[in-house]
This record gives sequence, C-alpha cells and structure tokens, in this order.
Amino acid sequence: MSTALIVLAAGKGTRMDSDLPKVLHRIAHAPMLWHAMRAGRALEPEACIVVAGHEAALVEASAKDYDPEAQVVIQSQQLGTAHAVAQARPALEGFGGNAIVLYGDTPFIREETLEAMLEARAQHDVVVLGFEAADPGRYGRLVTQGDDLERIVEFKDASDEERAITLCNSGVVCAKAETLFNLIDAVGNDNASGEYYLTDIVGIARARELSATVVRCDEGETLGVNSRAELAAAERLFQTRRRAEMMDDGVSFQAPDTVFLAWDTYIGGDTEVEPNVVFGPDVTVESGARIRAFSHLEGAHVSRGSVVGPFARLRPGAELAENVHVGNFVEIKNAVLHDGVKANHLTYIGDAEIGARTNIGAGTVTCNYDGVFKHKTTIGSDAFIGSDTMLVAPVTLGNGAMTASGSTITQDVPSGALAVARARQETKPGLATKLFDKLRARKAKQIKGAE
Ligand code: UD1
Ligand code: MG
Repeated sequence: MSTALIVLAAGKGTRMDSDLPKVLHRIAHAPMLWHAMRAGRALEPEACIVVAGHEAALVEASAKDYDPEAQVVIQSQQLGTAHAVAQARPALEGFGGNAIVLYGDTPFIREETLEAMLEARAQHDVVVLGFEAADPGRYGRLVTQGDDLERIVEFKDASDEERAITLCNSGVVCAKAETLFNLIDAVGNDNASGEYYLTDIVGIARARELSATVVRCDEGETLGVNSRAELAAAERLFQTRRRAEMMDDGVSFQAPDTVFLAWDTYIGGDTEVEPNVVFGPDVTVESGARIRAFSHLEGAHVSRGSVVGPFARLRPGAELAENVHVGNFVEIKNAVLHDGVKANHLTYIGDAEIGARTNIGAGTVTCNYDGVFKHKTTIGSDAFIGSDTMLVAPVTLGNGAMTASGSTITQDVPSGALAVARARQETKPGLATKLFDKLRARKAKQIKGAE
C-alpha cells in the first residue's frame, strides 16, 4: 500500500526566542524539518504534505528546497494537532494509502521505526509510536490493555493514576488516510487546552470498534526540540549517533568526540579521520583516504588514497581525484585536482583544473578574482609550479610546464616550457658589509647622543 507523509510544522516555537520558525533551526547543518522529512523519505512516500503556519513562506521554501515535490498546506491558526492534520485533507483527496503523521520538530525518528509502524498497520487500524520515558513529564500517556491501545490522555487532562503511566506518546501516528480524516472529523476541543487533540482519535477509533496498537521506539528517537539548550542537546545526540554509525561502517576516528559531521556527510570505510576535523554540508570522502587534524571541509569530494591536512580547507567545488595530497594551510575552492596532484603548503587554488601528478609549490596562488569577475586557471599534467608563483587568471599552462619560483604568470605557458617572470637578480660584491658598517655606525652615534 502506498504511503503519504504529513509533517506538522505550523508551531512558532516560542521558547526558541527566535525570528526563525523552530523547524528551520539547524542540526548538523540541516533544518530540523529536513531531518524529519528524510526519515519519511525512506518509505518512498507517494506524497509529502508539510503543514506550515508560523512564517509559512520560509517553511515552504525550505521544504521545497529539500523535496521539490513536497506540498505545503497552511494552518493559519494553531488550533491543535488534529486541526493541523485536517489541513492536509484536500491535498490527499482520493488517496487510498496509509498516512503517517510526523512532527517537524522531532528530527530523530529512524526509518526502521516507521517501517515497523507500517507493518503493524497491516494488522491494526491505528498505530501510535510510543516510548518508555525516563521522565514522562508532560507527554501524553498511552493507556493500554495488553497489545491494544485504549486511548491517549494528555498530561493536562490526566488523572493521578494516568500520570503514573510511563509509556508516552511520541506524536507519530499511522492510519489509512481515509480512516485518519474520518476520525479527526469527530475530534472536539472540550479539554484542558481547548485544542483539537490528534491524540483523541484513538479513543474515537476504539469506540467505533477499530483496533489500535503501539509500536515502541527508543526515547532518543522521539527527542523534540523546544529551546536552544535542547537544540544543542539534539546536535550532540546527532553527532554521537552518526559517529557510531560511521565507525560501524569501518571509518576510523582517533578522537570521535572532536569530529563534527554534517547531516549528509559520507565517509567510506578504511578512511581515517584525525582529531578536530569539521565537515560542513555536502562532503563525500571515499574509502582509504586520510583526513588529518584541524581540517575543514564543505561541498568537497575526496577520492581514495588522498590525504587532506593537517590544517587544510576544502571549500565548495573542491574535487580531489585519487592519491592527491593537500597539506597544511592550503585552501581549495571550485577546483579539480586530478590523480596524484600535490599541493602541500600554504597555497590557494580557486576556479582551477590541475592535471595529474602536477606539483604545486609552497605559496602558490591562483589570482582568480579581478574585483568583479572570477577567472579560471588551467594547468596540464606533470607540471611543476615553483614556490611563490602567482597565476593571474585566466591563464593556461601546458603539460610538463614549469614556472620559476617567485614568478607572476600573466601569459599562457606552452607544454614543456619554463616560464620565468621575475626581476633578474643583481649581486654586488662587498656591498652588504659596507652597508652594515654604515648603519651600525649611525646607531652607535644615536646611542651616544642620547646619553
Ligand atoms: C503532543 C501530543 C502529546 C505528545 C507530544 C510529544 C497532542 C494533543 N499531544 O503534545 O501527546 O506526548 O506531542 O511531543 O497531539 N502543531 C501544529 N499545529 C497546531 C499544533 C501543533 O502544526 O495547531 C505542531 C507543532 O508545531 C509541533 C507538533 O505539532 O511540531 C506538536 O505540537 P505541540 O504543541 O508541541 O504538542 P505537545 O503539546 O508537545
Ligand atoms: Mg511538543
């Protein structure tokens, strides 16, 4: 049966104290909303409906940025979770499959958990995701009898006996879309908050002799974010989880706690990551590479056998082929370095293509920007760029070309040619000694005068 996601993201998130809607705050460089949508995407849903309200235009743009096919519906007043889900109804008119309700501020639900809910859905009309809470606090409580879920009671409306229940509601619900909307029709707002509670659908379903059950997950999966402190805690949890997953997949971290991953960082097995490395968004590192200490990578691809750092910076569009070496204080932006290129010290390579096995000497700079336009530097294979070469782009150097140290290259260099572009050296015998004598004498005179 096909699946549709309904992601609730209309709330303001008052406790974030922010102009940005809560679901757009980032964990590991991606809005929380994307994390929620990503978990659901694994189910290959037929439709993804995001319910927006507070700052709806921003939420819509972000949802579409992640999934251009996502549909955004507006809940102009936040009258409760059932009312929010009801806004998705027109978008799912005639849809015959299951609907899963997710929260945009609950980013860590795993795809396996959602799959388990869909499986349970085959036997039950309504499936609720629950968890055993260490501190049940103000969560809704799940009233069960054996495997059956009887009803959900919100904390505010619960008796002391019900408040003692530790099995709590995560908020994630699965039912056939048609069933879900029919049940929501019967939800009222006669409760302690005066809100239309989605949780009421369970009691209503049972009264109609439909079945309901609970699928349990780890409490960490249901972690919601309501404040900046909780956002930081969520970031910590993401990092801990992701590092552990990567180590399970064969990545070595010398000091895992000091490596920061983005939501979409991919690292292949047998790659070593040294301490204090930061991954921004959109980085892939193939197997058998080495990312050395204090490097910063974003929007970059590093192939097998390459070594990056220590203290290297790879910026968007950095493409390192196999066995490339990028050393300390080297910055690469929008540049392809073919197999075996070495740029080991103090260099900037931007808007460039460097052929295989070319060696870039210390202090080389591609002068790619004229103040208005960016220009490209192209260097062939097996070239040797002497230390402190300024490559004033646009400029092209052929295969096996060489530049003399300290050259400022403003014209193309053909294959096999050596370009020397610096003032010729003049050496004056004895002149240094004379000059020193003169200067020292002047200093001695000054000191005497001051006494
Ligand atoms: C809800 C559940 C509670 C559960 C808890 C888990 C209900 C009635 N209660 O309570 O049982 O233990 O989540 O975190 O469902 N939203 C809208 N429009 C609205 C109201 C809410 O889009 O009109 C969105 C919010 O932005 C949020 C989510 O729905 O993403 C949950 O709303 P929230 O107000 O946090 O519900 P809780 O009171 O936490
Ligand atoms: Mg909440």
